[in-house]
Amino acid sequence: MSLCMFGYTLALATCWLGVQAFVRVDLSGDDWVVSEKTKGIRVPGKVPGSMYTALQDGGIIQDPLYRDNDVTYSWVGRGDWTYSRNFSVTSDVVKAGQVWLICEGLDTIATVIVNGQEVGQSENMFVWSAFNLSGILQVGNNSIEVNFKSAVKEAAARTNKSDYDIPPACPQAAQHGECHVNQIRKEQCSFSWDWGPSFPTQGIWKPIYIDAYGRAVIREAAALVKRVNTQWQVDIEVYLDVDNEAEVKGRLDAAIRDFNLSFSQDLSFSKTKNSFKINLIVPEDREVPLWWPNGYGNQSLFDLEVLFTSGGDTSSKTLRIGFRTVELVQVPVSNRTEHGLSFYYKINGIPVFLKGSNWIPADSFQERITIDTLRFLLGSAANVSINSLRVWGGGVYESEEFYNLCDELGIMIWQDLMFSVALYPTYPEFLSSVATEVSQQVRRLKSHASIIVWAGNNENESALKQNWFRITSNYSRYYDDYVKLYVTTIKPIVEQEDSTREYLTSSPSNGKETEKEGYIAQDSSSQLYGDVHFYDYSVDQWNAQSFRIPRMATEYGVQAWCNNESLSRVLEPSDLSMESEMVNHRQHHPNGNQEMADEVKVHLNLPGSSDEKSNFVDFIYLTQINQAMCIRTQSEHYRRYQSQLLPDGRGLTMGALYWQLNDIWQAPTWASIDYEGSWKMLHYYARSFFNRTLISPYRLKDGSVDVFLVLDQLPVVEVRGSDGTLSFRLANNISELVKLGLSASEASEKLQAVKEASSGSLRVQIYDYISFNPLHTWTVKYNLKTAAESVFTKSVSDLLAESGCPSAENCLLHLTATDSDGLVVSTNWYPLAYPRSSKLKPAQVKIASVTRANEHTVDIEVSSDAIALFVWLSVDNVRGHFSDNGFLLFTPSRRVRFYASDTVDVGYFSSHLRVRSVADVKTSDVPIVG
Ligand SMILES: *[C@@H]1O[C@H](CO)[C@@H](O)[C@H](O)[C@H]1NC(C)=O
Ligand SMILES: *[C@@H]1O[C@H](CO)[C@@H](O)[C@H](O)[C@H]1NC(C)=O
Ligand SMILES: *[C@@H]1O[C@H](CO)[C@@H](O)[C@H](O)[C@H]1NC(C)=O
Ligand SMILES: *[C@@H]1O[C@H](CO)[C@@H](O)[C@H](O)[C@H]1NC(C)=O
Ligand SMILES: *[C@@H]1O[C@H](CO)[C@@H](O)[C@H](O)[C@H]1NC(C)=O
Ligand SMILES: *[C@@H]1O[C@H](CO)[C@@H](O)[C@H](O)[C@H]1NC(C)=O
Repeated sequence: MSLCMFGYTLALATCWLGVQAFVRVDLSGDDWVVSEKTKGIRVPGKVPGSMYTALQDGGIIQDPLYRDNDVTYSWVGRGDWTYSRNFSVTSDVVKAGQVWLICEGLDTIATVIVNGQEVGQSENMFVWSAFNLSGILQVGNNSIEVNFKSAVKEAAARTNKSDYDIPPACPQAAQHGECHVNQIRKEQCSFSWDWGPSFPTQGIWKPIYIDAYGRAVIREAAALVKRVNTQWQVDIEVYLDVDNEAEVKGRLDAAIRDFNLSFSQDLSFSKTKNSFKINLIVPEDREVPLWWPNGYGNQSLFDLEVLFTSGGDTSSKTLRIGFRTVELVQVPVSNRTEHGLSFYYKINGIPVFLKGSNWIPADSFQERITIDTLRFLLGSAANVSINSLRVWGGGVYESEEFYNLCDELGIMIWQDLMFSVALYPTYPEFLSSVATEVSQQVRRLKSHASIIVWAGNNENESALKQNWFRITSNYSRYYDDYVKLYVTTIKPIVEQEDSTREYLTSSPSNGKETEKEGYIAQDSSSQLYGDVHFYDYSVDQWNAQSFRIPRMATEYGVQAWCNNESLSRVLEPSDLSMESEMVNHRQHHPNGNQEMADEVKVHLNLPGSSDEKSNFVDFIYLTQINQAMCIRTQSEHYRRYQSQLLPDGRGLTMGALYWQLNDIWQAPTWASIDYEGSWKMLHYYARSFFNRTLISPYRLKDGSVDVFLVLDQLPVVEVRGSDGTLSFRLANNISELVKLGLSASEASEKLQAVKEASSGSLRVQIYDYISFNPLHTWTVKYNLKTAAESVFTKSVSDLLAESGCPSAENCLLHLTATDSDGLVVSTNWYPLAYPRSSKLKPAQVKIASVTRANEHTVDIEVSSDAIALFVWLSVDNVRGHFSDNGFLLFTPSRRVRFYASDTVDVGYFSSHLRVRSVADVKTSDVPIVG
């Protein structure tokens, strides 16, 4: 019997019964057996999946994330595992002209055997393979076996064979990881990272199926959207798998129905001529709804269908495309060469400030990442105004679902290729495997509107230049290898596949300047070119003067512990103390716990009671405050510099992507959302520091308080001064926007938004901690010409003198911006001294009431008898997030909402709800008296 596998949508499609039809036999599912011969283990397995989840489901191992099971189960990754199953096929599969086994992803060193015959091998987790099954299948019962070799053992064997060292050899001891992961084309963090455990998985991690057909089917299809002069053009590429022997005639159809655009032609294909390019041009009179980043407008997306029919063979692909342009602008910022080049993205002609974070794999076991997990994490990002994420080069090229969601949410993707913090081999087989990987992955992903750039690797330019691996004596060898991999091998492939986006050899890099200097720049983290990563735990990160002023910061971060409720899932109550073995075990960043304590104590009082457990819970809370305040200070700093160019050429900072959004296990890391999906304090703070309108108070070098107003999501245009200086200003006339390609209606809508947002008034109120009533209020009107301007400056002595506040230690500022209609568009607060030295009252913060608003929403009334800092609500075992958290309570009470992921039982919720503030940190056993 013939099966028609696809739901065809084009009218032409038919299912040719009686003629050889396309049949797909899906081998994914529960029918697999996972076994290890030397250990005599045999358990049921699922595909997609890995041996760890199979062993856990089969009761052979416990939760791999529990306590130090990552080390306890290191034997698992050192074994050689086999995935096998029997399956049955019908005669139309066996007799088909073409019978192919498609493995979308094998992890990693694999030999595939069907009915006892080897049909192929694979050694790169990031490539798909097609293995020829003609003449191998039989009607009825068949068997398949995928024999994996331990990636850990293979990495060691390859290292032995290598003529010279390819560092780093092993991860730092604190990571309890495996060695030489750079020898293998596998998720680099699966051998451990400084935020994650070592689980060197093996398994079939992507779909696996048999395709049987007559002569030819579509294997890959991709589309690039371009603006050529004043018209939109969609370049479609279709790649077919074609019969070896003869020419195949068939009909190729493509259509974008929303625009009534279609293509249809009879064509012939052969083994050597197996692809075809179609250009669809959207007539100029057709209004094209654009795709915009989160906050800038809609994310209009359209289906593009491609169909190939030849005899009974019918195959199709549907792509979702968005109309937008992307440009990376690297031009001189002034007429002085030593001032360097700009580095910013324009979407649809408009410079866009990247407000973002970095994405790591959401689980050590890819099969556990559900669409709901992705929806939750990416939704949580979009929810706090994040418009961009970097898919970091030590993980995996993410799933189709991931990029679809980014397209839908308007999250721009900075896509690294999967190479990270290491040197790599360059022997011919390795390079050829990488070449296949890069062309397959770029082809798979390039249709997505969300992707704005490709980058060769994570930090390898810096690593080489700054001698992280102590290779100076052999620098030229490693330099040659670097160029061979990222420039000679990868660059032409990416450029050939995608003419619409830039390829940067490394993240970070100096962009064009890196290229000019032979791909390794002298000052590889220059503030005057490209992007930078910034980590310095020795400086005071609550003080903006500690930071650099780069063109873009694509990584910066500070560690904090995950929420203690999340930690309790995997640790025993007795583990929950500062110095416990398990607490140290979870810390993969050498000396990280001490470093956090050192950062905390500059600003806050460390806990010091005799109760170890309460000290640890306090410590978790304090590290989260510190992380939130550090990243707030730094993110606001970058946003403030977007419109300023300093006399030394620094400034025009156009992006802030903090490290890191998500977590891979329950541990102290740089993440803002923990592994259990709880928002850490930082994530709540991101909502404020990435808000559309930001009031940003900070200290100038001379100690005065300066307040900036920063606007976002508005059309900005470039201006060249008469002296050659580049700057940005808010758009102020329709024609300059229409010139960029915006429709008149869209342009006028955007200008209206500028008008509404650019003027208003700022209220600065000063409070003494002893009272809920402000001591004094200053009000200033603002009328901005650029997206970020100073609107209020005052020395601390004037602030004190004019308000009657006794000292900086007694007071804090609360700031409110209202727009021209009097609506509150932003609020923020700023303590005039660090809490450690401030004269806080020992506030008693309480839950005054909890009421159910609806199935998923609970209203909470929080009250206090004094101003309270960093008021933190937590609820054990209920998934969701609060409308605000870690906040300043400067009124006797305040209402906060909780948005639950599932239906919520208010009784249960109330009994698991806790609230605290810094006043509750037990600094000693002697009660603090007010
Ligand atoms: C396949 O079938 C044979 C015979 O019934 C059986 O011995 C074998 O265990 C099966 N293999 C798997 C992986 O289920
Ligand atoms: C697939 O295998 C069959 C049988 O061995 C052979 O005739 C055919 O040429 C192979 N196809 C390709 C594309 O190698
Ligand atoms: C099914 O196929 C496997 C492998 O070819 C073979 O070992 C087994 O005996 C077969 N089982 C039956 C019931 O035919
Ligand atoms: C690597 O070489 C050493 C020394 O020759 C040998 O002892 C070791 O077994 C080798 N390891 C692998 C994985 O081949
Ligand atoms: C370059 O800029 C300086 C001021 O920064 C100005 O004095 C000079 O005239 C400019 N030169 C040119 C060629 O525009
Ligand atoms: C964020 O922006 C919204 C809408 O402009 C505003 O109502 C809200 O007060 C802002 N939040 C903060 C913390 O600034």
